[in-house]
Amino acid sequence: MEFMELLNQSRVSEFVLLGLTDSENIQILLFVFFSVVYVATVLGNLLIVVAVFCVSNLNTPMYFLLGNLSFVDITLASFATPKMIINLLRKQKTISFAGCFTQIFLLHFLGGVEMVLLVSMAYDRYVAICKPLHYMNIMNKKVCVLLVVTSWFLGLLHSGLQIPFVVNLPFCGSNVVDSIFCDLPLVAKLACTDTYFVEIVIVAHSGMISLSCFTVLLISYSLILVAIRNRSSAGQSKARSTLTAHITVVILFFGPCIFIYIWPFSNHSVDKFLAIFYTIVTPILNPIIYTLRNKEMKTAMKKLWDIFYKF
Ligand SMILES: *[C@@H]1O[C@H](CO)[C@@H](O)[C@H](O)[C@H]1NC(C)=O
Repeated sequence: MEFMELLNQSRVSEFVLLGLTDSENIQILLFVFFSVVYVATVLGNLLIVVAVFCVSNLNTPMYFLLGNLSFVDITLASFATPKMIINLLRKQKTISFAGCFTQIFLLHFLGGVEMVLLVSMAYDRYVAICKPLHYMNIMNKKVCVLLVVTSWFLGLLHSGLQIPFVVNLPFCGSNVVDSIFCDLPLVAKLACTDTYFVEIVIVAHSGMISLSCFTVLLISYSLILVAIRNRSSAGQSKARSTLTAHITVVILFFGPCIFIYIWPFSNHSVDKFLAIFYTIVTPILNPIIYTLRNKEMKTAMKKLWDIFYKF
């Protein structure tokens, strides 16, 4: 009886997220900065989603996928960042046990969806540039919907397969997570049992998925770049600017992911700064890259402005 009470007492019911820094001044600065970035991310991506729905000349497979990517970016930016922003002003930076595992689930779910969508978008560009005559045939509406549904399904599968390994571990000792949100390697390490095998499984899973998606993306972009080498300069420069945008997003998203999951045990203190890249930097990059650098998007934004102006 006493033993059970002791066990219950020492069972972790919440975790502490250390955040980026101890300094109060820097935290206030970060609060302002991340708040602005977060609002801009949500508004920017919302604008893309609305534009894709409302403006008829964005009715192409590429923008269909982009609209969906923007939607995922909104969710990816929202699952942990608001909590992190509020924590910057709090003395007690705690998160409940359930909250922590919800974050882990959503991170891998939404991160998985984003990865598969990025691969789908690369495939779309590959078909558009290397097989232009068959483009409308291959990338028909059905295929586009299928790619989106597949990405959500694979994200769910990826996340759902990993969570059971960790959620059932005994947590009774330290509850301090040195990051801005809960993630698998950091939380698994806190379990009061030998988790070496569990960590290997998890990391192999997340690491291999990141690495293989990244490899597929590199190969498809290389194929595209080779294909446009001997094209007329006008078409080439348009294709190249689209490709540069895609490749930038891909490197900024996958670079940190691969780094975190391939060397998970070294407990780098840079990991929490890298985490910023896929929950804060990547989600705001899409609206910036696609609206500022893209002529069709700019035209669409003007049309959207006209539509709202009439009301
Ligand atoms: C995203 O995909 C869904 C389902 O395939 C589709 O109905 C929706 O229109 C897409 N969203 C955007 C913004 O393109």
